[in-house]
Amino acid sequence: MDEKEAKKEIERLRKEINYHNYRYYVLNDPVISDYEYDMLYKRLVELEKQFPHLITPDSPTQRVGGEPLKEFKTVTHEIPMLSLDNTYSYEELKEFDKRIRKTVPNIRYICELKVDGVAVSLSYRDGKFIRGATRGDGYKGDDITLNLKTIKTLPLTLLTEDKDFLNIEVRGEVFLTKKQFLELNKQREEEGEPLFANPRNACAGSLKLLDPKEVAKRNLDIFIHTIPKPPSEKYDSDYQVLQELKKIGFKVIPHSEVLKSIDEVISYCEEWKDKKEELPYEVDGIVVKVDSFKHRFELGETIKSPRWAVAYKYPPKQATTKIKRIYVQVGRVGTLTPVAEFEPVFLSGTTITHATLHNYDEIKRKDIKIGDWVIIEKAGEVIPQVVKVIKEKRTGEEKEFKMPETCPVCGGKVVRETGEVAYRCINASCPAQIKRRIIHFASRQAMDIEGLGEKWVEIFVDKGLIKDFADIYKLKFKKNEILKLERMGEKSTENLLNAIEKSKNRPFHRVLYALGIRHVGLGTAQILANAFNNIDELMKASKERLSSISGIGPIVAESIYNFFHTKENIELINKLKEVGINFEREKKEEKKILAGKTFVVTGTLKNFTRQQVHELILSLGGNVGTSVSKKTDYLICGADPGSKLDKAKELGVKIISEEEFLEMIKGK
Ligand code: IVH
Repeated sequence: MDEKEAKKEIERLRKEINYHNYRYYVLNDPVISDYEYDMLYKRLVELEKQFPHLITPDSPTQRVGGEPLKEFKTVTHEIPMLSLDNTYSYEELKEFDKRIRKTVPNIRYICELKVDGVAVSLSYRDGKFIRGATRGDGYKGDDITLNLKTIKTLPLTLLTEDKDFLNIEVRGEVFLTKKQFLELNKQREEEGEPLFANPRNACAGSLKLLDPKEVAKRNLDIFIHTIPKPPSEKYDSDYQVLQELKKIGFKVIPHSEVLKSIDEVISYCEEWKDKKEELPYEVDGIVVKVDSFKHRFELGETIKSPRWAVAYKYPPKQATTKIKRIYVQVGRVGTLTPVAEFEPVFLSGTTITHATLHNYDEIKRKDIKIGDWVIIEKAGEVIPQVVKVIKEKRTGEEKEFKMPETCPVCGGKVVRETGEVAYRCINASCPAQIKRRIIHFASRQAMDIEGLGEKWVEIFVDKGLIKDFADIYKLKFKKNEILKLERMGEKSTENLLNAIEKSKNRPFHRVLYALGIRHVGLGTAQILANAFNNIDELMKASKERLSSISGIGPIVAESIYNFFHTKENIELINKLKEVGINFEREKKEEKKILAGKTFVVTGTLKNFTRQQVHELILSLGGNVGTSVSKKTDYLICGADPGSKLDKAKELGVKIISEEEFLEMIKGK
């Protein structure tokens, strides 16, 4: 193929891929199979490889690219990004309506769900996405173009040739679904990272990352809700423009309605009060906007917010309680996390007694003291957190909380590294850390040592019987001492020692996971075990080699590299080798056990992100589908499954749990 032909073919493929992306991600209605899509994509990648100078930044292959940035550039918003006035009652909504009608008696409102995310602005030139920015102070924001490009629902090229739309700026909300949020936090917990308080914080944190590869893993999504300038005089209705935006590739906020009276607006707010809980993303209110651009112009704006729009905010589910004490937990990597203990209080379905206060900065920022009365709220529907202190209730008896200067468990030194919010106990042999690491090591997904749970780990570590992972395998020489422990009989000791012996042959990836390397969850461990034959190869790998592996970014690579270049860890690995732990990939892993089988995944999995489970299936020779069809062999069903489950039942596709799937690939 000559260059001219290649160029034509590349353009054709991009157009087709953009269209199918849109069908799949925006409309949720694909018209080709995943396989066909993959073939188109593969063909484009191949051609771009052959003719690299034909690669353009808007190519669908270039969503995740570029080196990590040092910092974001500042951009000035041509039209300021204003915020909205908030109202908390229907009375206030009625006043807003009255005010509007003084200027425009005959009004049309567009009511929209207020999605709780991060506001961004997107600029298009000649139909191509050229720049994306955060709101910042409304006048100047950060240039986060590369991060935004990773969002699959953001069109890089508009599906139109209409001149009115080729050079537009649109604004919207980047968000994280509740499911992705929970998955992200679960992963962070597993990897010893501080948790995000709610989906919005997680989203904002993700957009601030300087490495687009890391951002891509967060699976962010975007809804468009605003066009600051109408595309042309032809259009006078925001609603109508939004419908056009949807046609040319944008995902706009669903369920919007045009309503004429404030009573209808109030009914709309009422309707979504409970219904919003069923949506996959967080909605914290309703945005009520004047629909006509002409009317908007007549109404104008203040420096802070437009006069033609208002946000009605739903009251969050909150309760008040008193902080009895604040104590500090020490995690697997030594992070000191302050936790509040409350007078028990009931809040939407559960009794709440504790909440993490995240870190010391957060306590200072919210000015939380021991003995304070506080308002608590459930964020992301699950994790309770302190919203604010009720200062009016202070008696003067409240006590300031201070971060301990030494570790509350081992008395070791506590440090706060520059640029980090977390305080850490740096004593790697701190019993709290040892205990958490050993509990993790023995846990079901890791070495799966039955009987070696939290309770026994506590006792063994406290009695000095275990100091590191290798000591677990030496317990058999200390049988007499174990038998002396309360409630440890001959039989249970025997069972425990057998379980310990049995765990020596766990597959390589589980051993890697068990080591508790920061950022290495089960999915990453699986990727590592696929890439290296044994631990020696892995230990020798450079940072560059590690980050060249698909699914491993520079931060993870750095963490793995550092782990294997720490003296204590090298000694530990040697000790584990001596006691006979398996550090080799099994030869039979070469056999592709899932060959010819097509899997579809629904719901949240406990051990993997979507990307990880997909990579795992592919690496074992299987195919991955994104929608259930007659060709699907198995549907892997996690928590909160979607409509795919119904479809699978309807078609008689075999439905398996995550555990059954793990069983199926056992030893791999
Ligand atoms: S319209 C002049 N519509 O809420 C601003 N905003 O509190 C017009 N938001 O900065 C914004 N969902 O980031 C609009 N359906 C929606 C929205 C929405 C969420 C955000 C937006 C805005 C903030 C104002």
